[in-house]
Amino acid sequence: MSKRFYITTAINYVNGQPHLGHAYEEVVTDVIARARRSLGQEVFFLTGLDEHGQKVQQAAQAEGKSPQVYCDELAADWKAFTQKLELTNDDFVRTTEPRHKEFVQAILAKLHAAGQFYKETYEGWYSAREETFLTDKDRRPDGTFDPAYGEVVKLQETNYWFKLREHQQWLIDYLEANPDFVQPDHRRNEVLGFLKNNELEDLCISRPKARLNWGIPLPFDADYVTYVWFDALVNYISIPAAHGDPAINSALRTPHSALELWPADLHIIGKDILKFHAVYWPIMLKAMGLPLPKQILAHGWWQKDGAKISKSTGNIVDPIAVINEWGLDAFRFYVVRELDIGPDGNWTDAGFRSRYQAELANGLGNLINRSLSMLKRYRNGVVPARADELAPDANKVIADTRALLEQNQLQAALLAIWSLVTRANQYVDQTKPFSLAKDPTQAKRLDEVLYNLAETCRVLAVLLWPFIPNSATKIYGQLGLSEAPEKFSGANWGGLQPGHSIGEPAPLFPRKEV
Ligand code: ME8
Ligand code: MG
Repeated sequence: MSKRFYITTAINYVNGQPHLGHAYEEVVTDVIARARRSLGQEVFFLTGLDEHGQKVQQAAQAEGKSPQVYCDELAADWKAFTQKLELTNDDFVRTTEPRHKEFVQAILAKLHAAGQFYKETYEGWYSAREETFLTDKDRRPDGTFDPAYGEVVKLQETNYWFKLREHQQWLIDYLEANPDFVQPDHRRNEVLGFLKNNELEDLCISRPKARLNWGIPLPFDADYVTYVWFDALVNYISIPAAHGDPAINSALRTPHSALELWPADLHIIGKDILKFHAVYWPIMLKAMGLPLPKQILAHGWWQKDGAKISKSTGNIVDPIAVINEWGLDAFRFYVVRELDIGPDGNWTDAGFRSRYQAELANGLGNLINRSLSMLKRYRNGVVPARADELAPDANKVIADTRALLEQNQLQAALLAIWSLVTRANQYVDQTKPFSLAKDPTQAKRLDEVLYNLAETCRVLAVLLWPFIPNSATKIYGQLGLSEAPEKFSGANWGGLQPGHSIGEPAPLFPRKEV
């Protein structure tokens, strides 16, 4: 067996219900995972939950529950959410699981034995909300800390520290030599700028149990639990290790077997946690003797109506409500089409409705419905002889889409695919099959037009499968095809066989009154 394409999301804090930002990251990752499978790669897609730390402990306390009970209850909601989004994740990690906790402890013991940690007393400004010590560099020009840090208190504490400083130049060199390691480019520049202009502080990797007990105990000091980020990042390797990954298990000298996952091909994360993934994580891996992930891809943040998404102000988008009203595929389509991976986005209900109407109902939906309805009406649903008028357009879009999917350019891929939707809708308007049908001498021309349209619908289903799998599957069903449109190689022009009988046309994206 060969190494799989291993793709991960950030693991989500279980201190609330999933919101638009989480849904976006999961959908983007799922589209990439499905695209890679469609292109013939073996994929392993991991997502899950970050359950330890102060945020979760406080959220549990606020509800008067033990942290474990609180996490168990919310984990059920988050797992249901992955199903609501029809994610094709291969595993779902919870950091409270024994398979993860035991692995984190093994790593901590190994790094401790290798002399990577030291114990020291430190006095500084501490943000409980962000679970981090702040320095004067974090102050704003007026001397205060950003309100995002919550209450900041002076704290004196003895902790274990992980030596980062000695790896700083190595990491700069690595980023310079591997321009793809952090993407998009402006995020890579941000990390490089940070590393070149600041001396790295060592990372505090422990919390005294007296202050925080909801964490994984340090295997070498019972008075401490490990810092939540040291725990959370390790999920990307604890789960491969649990599946027998040879690279990880041989680095740890534990038995190994089956699934080759590490190094990850793609960590999908939001821009706010870039430093953890592009600075701390590579250094942790280097200290463990493990290769680095191939790419960290940071997406932007969604706002709603131009303001920060926030539970406290009620400025939220509930993805479940949107899906219940408009359908899963409309939601998946909108978030990927609206926002390229990188910049920030802005959700407006009006923007959502207008894309639904223009691109899904009047664009794709109308094309599929009128193409198949005319084939049904004029040829009793029987596919005519092959004709290739739209083949050059389709083949170009197929090639472009393939190249864009291989570069994880999802929004650009949708634009390419929609150029074919538009071309085919124009073709209907230009060839006027409804007029051809009235003239018996035009029967052969009508056959040609109907074949071109039906085959374009089929090609579109294959291209769209990673993005809107339900609609793609429905298109195949309406074409009377029993297989799923899940293999990109099936996109090639000419797949629809003359003489084949199609199924029943039905609207994919019903128009809605606004
Ligand atoms: O950061 N728009 O968890 P988290 C887009 N547990 N993305 C958003 C967003 C928004 N408005 N809000 C959040 C954590 N996200 C850690 C990760 S990984 C080892 C540990 C994204 O629940 C955010 O950028 O706060 C992150 O990638 C993910 O949702 C989880 O955020
Ligand atoms: Mg966060």
